[in-house]
Amino acid sequence: MEELIYVDRRNSNCNKWDGQTAMFGEEGLHAMWVADMDFKIPQCVQKALHEYVDFGAIGYYRIPDGYYDAFINWEKKHFNFEVKREWLRFAPGVVAAFNWMIQMLTKKGDAVIVMTPVYYPFLQAVTNNERKLITSDLVNENGNYTIDFDDFEKKIVDNDVKVFILCSPHNPVGRVWRKEELKEMLEICHRHHVYVISDEIHQDFVFGDKKQTPSYLMTEHWDEILTITAPSKTFNLAGGQNSFVVIADENLRAKWDDFAKRIRLMTGNAFGFVAAEAAYKGGQEWLDKVKKQIVDNDRYLRELFKEDLPQVVVTPLEATYLVWIDLRAYIKPEDTKEFIQKKCRLAVDFGDWFGGDRFDGFIRMNLATSRENVEIGVKRIIDGISEVRSRSVSCN
Ligand SMILES: Cc1ncc(COP(=O)(O)O)c(C=O)c1O
Repeated sequence: MEELIYVDRRNSNCNKWDGQTAMFGEEGLHAMWVADMDFKIPQCVQKALHEYVDFGAIGYYRIPDGYYDAFINWEKKHFNFEVKREWLRFAPGVVAAFNWMIQMLTKKGDAVIVMTPVYYPFLQAVTNNERKLITSDLVNENGNYTIDFDDFEKKIVDNDVKVFILCSPHNPVGRVWRKEELKEMLEICHRHHVYVISDEIHQDFVFGDKKQTPSYLMTEHWDEILTITAPSKTFNLAGGQNSFVVIADENLRAKWDDFAKRIRLMTGNAFGFVAAEAAYKGGQEWLDKVKKQIVDNDRYLRELFKEDLPQVVVTPLEATYLVWIDLRAYIKPEDTKEFIQKKCRLAVDFGDWFGGDRFDGFIRMNLATSRENVEIGVKRIIDGISEVRSRSVSCN
């Protein structure tokens, strides 16, 4: 029987709890940011890693066929996506992969489009590589996000965009793109010769009656699309640095192989392969438990806000374990960081990180933790706001 075991990760050299200085300028905040989990990995993965360590020879490692087969079976079973073995390549992480794809598909100064607010390494991948960042804002109607297709297409045309980085499901607004939405995005890209990099790392966290559709299944133009996904979110293996690049078109794959040759990308971390293969083969029961815990935490967070701060807008969590919260009814957007960090002592992802100061007043909280940690986070916000309000009343 698989059990979900919470781990207090403080003092374990993890980014979320022990590496806050880079983003917050201090340590010791209650951590609800970085998108990994405070849970032990599945037992089957621990066992596989133990066995490999006991074997003891950790030399250069060939990428195992079983690792690719396990992923192929997973995609077929969960998404009805028939991935062929020859389409698959390895990259040591999704972020590394989309940075390299930008280098491979564009030249300096070329325009790359994203839909904001979005996972901030998308933005950095464009600017760090000296490409031109084009953003098309999602439309926010009381916390429900949709795509402005006219704006998306106009920006592509006006800026001669070469690449679109798609986040599917979308971090941070938790949307599972419907088939029609995916189709329309992909058709617009095809009309204007735009490559699509589809980041599907959150594919396994989709809730309720929502269904995740791989982008490949929504277009026939496989010479324009590259998908990246990974076991790292699904099974809490981000430290394993492992991701799958899926390129079905032969010519596009040859481009990737040529690029990989130039950067000597040949194999990866042996522990990552061992862990990923075991997880895809035996981690289902564990994943079901994690998903249940996330759904429970999400419900609990909404109840707490509803009761004490009913005007906080919590975006529906269709997917991911990251919840997007609009605090602007209670806090001035420009005061949010000071309030959350200094008053509430919380480390969350701040709205402006996802695309600029028009997202001030929003925060992203990570639900892949214990119910107690969620409660601490939300209650600190509730108490902080009630203190600020009572102070302003007594000053009047
Ligand atoms: C959309 C998205 N892509 C990629 C990553 C990270 O990928 P990796 O750790 O494989 O580089 C994350 C992590 O939060 C993410 O949300």
